[in-house]
Amino acid sequence: MKSTQLWIFFSLFRIAILQSNTDVQSLLTQLFTTNSYNTLIRPSTNQSAPKEIDISFNLYGITDVDEIEQKLTTTGWLVITWKDDLLTWTPASYNGLNKLYLPQDNVWKPDVSLQNGFSELEELGSKFIQVYVQSSGYIMWRPFQVFETKCNLDSKYFPFDEHKCHIIFVSWSHSSEEIVLTQTSNGIELSDELESHGEWRITSSSATSEFKSLVSSVKFTIVIKRKPLYMIMNIILPIILLALLEIFTFKIPADTGERLGYTITVWLSFAVFLTIVSDSLPQSSESVPIVSTYIIIQLLMGTLVVLISTVEAGLITNPDSVPVYQILRFLALRLRRNNVKSTEYTERKIDSEIPEVKWKEAITAVDTCLFFISMGIFFITTVICLFIAAI
Ligand SMILES: *[C@@H]1O[C@H](CO)[C@@H](O)[C@H](O)[C@H]1NC(C)=O
Repeated sequence: MKSTQLWIFFSLFRIAILQSNTDVQSLLTQLFTTNSYNTLIRPSTNQSAPKEIDISFNLYGITDVDEIEQKLTTTGWLVITWKDDLLTWTPASYNGLNKLYLPQDNVWKPDVSLQNGFSELEELGSKFIQVYVQSSGYIMWRPFQVFETKCNLDSKYFPFDEHKCHIIFVSWSHSSEEIVLTQTSNGIELSDELESHGEWRITSSSATSEFKSLVSSVKFTIVIKRKPLYMIMNIILPIILLALLEIFTFKIPADTGERLGYTITVWLSFAVFLTIVSDSLPQSSESVPIVSTYIIIQLLMGTLVVLISTVEAGLITNPDSVPVYQILRFLALRLRRNNVKSTEYTERKIDSEIPEVKWKEAITAVDTCLFFISMGIFFITTVICLFIAAI
């Protein structure tokens, strides 16, 4: 690409001063009137031999990655070059004139089109694009296009997902007996002015020529990786923090009125936050992102915390005449013994007493246990989900 541009630049300088408009005029007459160049003729002197067309792909930017429609939209241009045996001349006969620019419809051009395109087939380029023609018959055509291609996007590992997308070009009507597509570049050429995308980063690219049952195609492969920072800051971190807040409900004494208010408030902020966030998550039922599963787990835990708090608020108002449930009593005694041990009381002192447990003590014991259990579940699920998604 670079060398071609350089070449055009130099040839322009060397010759521009020497030729006149009549040279161009007589060359055009020679080519199109005398030789009666016909765009319908495949430009080979030997019509039995296939025409080789070289394609390279210059990427200007990624416009959109759509998980629902499984669509990748890229902007870029193709550099398609071939040799036209019927558009040759001797520069010496035209004062050294050795290049021309012609509208793309005035020369034969291959019917290259997107094989895995998203919308209907259409001609590449547009009328105003001109092809560059050299006296040797070398032709360069650079159609600029927005390419919409089908791509398998699996957002299971969102926001650490990586996708491999193909952009395949074929000569739609011709078999490989007439037209052979080749590529000499090693991958997609990333334009110097490549527009960086806020969410996606191009990690690698490659290009291969394929040849399958008389169909010759060129396949460009691009690997894109999501930049996870935005999603981590705006989705994952807030969810983790909210879940943490919900767990600390168990640290608030059950007989204070604020406790239910607190836990409901946290639960509500969870729900409000989820409605905001659901737009940012990849929307597909094909594969549920691990993040979604994580959110559901945290929401379930939050709901459970609210339910338990409600039940506890009811139980703690029981008068002491109502006997404490056996299991709560057992728990409370167990915890009391632990506490006593840690403050280095003698065991005998407890044994001599008749253990009596009041509702408040029992509920506090339950809260202590639940605090550690939910903390454990929170840590395990968080670590597992992050681990699976990131690796
Ligand atoms: C034309 O091309 C065919 C296929 O490549 C080849 O076999 C044949 O010899 C060529 N004919 C001439 C005249 O070059």
